[in-house]
Amino acid sequence: MPLGKSEIKRVTTHILQEMKDRSEKISMLTAYDYSLAKIIDASGIEVILVGDSASNVIAGHETTLPITLDQMIYHAKGVVRAASRALIVVDIPFGSYQGSSSEALRSAIRIMKESGAHAVKMEGGVEIKESVIRILSAGVPVMGHLGLTPQSIYKFGTYTVRAREDTEANKLIEDAQLLEDLGCFSIVLEKIPSELAKKVAEKLKIPIIGIGAGPYVDGQVLVMHDMLGINKDFNPRFLRRYADLNKIITDAIQQYINDIKKINFPNDNESY
Ligand code: KIV
Repeated sequence: MPLGKSEIKRVTTHILQEMKDRSEKISMLTAYDYSLAKIIDASGIEVILVGDSASNVIAGHETTLPITLDQMIYHAKGVVRAASRALIVVDIPFGSYQGSSSEALRSAIRIMKESGAHAVKMEGGVEIKESVIRILSAGVPVMGHLGLTPQSIYKFGTYTVRAREDTEANKLIEDAQLLEDLGCFSIVLEKIPSELAKKVAEKLKIPIIGIGAGPYVDGQVLVMHDMLGINKDFNPRFLRRYADLNKIITDAIQQYINDIKKINFPNDNESY
């Protein structure tokens, strides 16, 4: 019998810490709407990220920069209504925390209050220190994000692997340590060499979640549309496709079109 909402134990930031402490890997996936978040949650994922990658895979923008705070809250509300088990983390979008720590706090509070999510994620290290302190002091759990930080894509210029050189690698290690010291409950490391990610995961006590950061971290995250093969245009080396939904959906729709043309749908059983 399916469990009722109140009988399901919610994953918390403390549970994630316990998982790292006993070397159990953490699974995390993005979601942006009610229907797919319901399937993802029921599948047993520990963390759902309402990522600002919604800007790419839902809205069709080239970067994550255009998505607004209101739009992120809209996506998060649907996910929160669907998920009774996973911890739900929401990206604070570009332009809603870089201005000042009070702006950052206002944005984080809006996300928590209006969507009902459980934590926020922010990109950057020492540059966002004051904002992280302010948000944490309001009791909002913060997940960091270092390495390739897509909100800074115009500064980097490309989506290639970050922190291959010592200077950038050392800064990343310092930033990760800082985020842990400030009180972040976890950090995402995106598109960096495996050995560097390993070093960070071994040095830090909090869970390190990788995307394109190799296997030696405490958990993995992927963008749902990429791993399900809905979106075929994005093919980085780190991506493993677990399904070809693009083909499944195309075949189904073509079958539907054919059935309509041949007056094979609806049949008598499908009519009143
Ligand atoms: O927005 C997003 O989907 C992310 C993941 C790539 C970690 O930040």
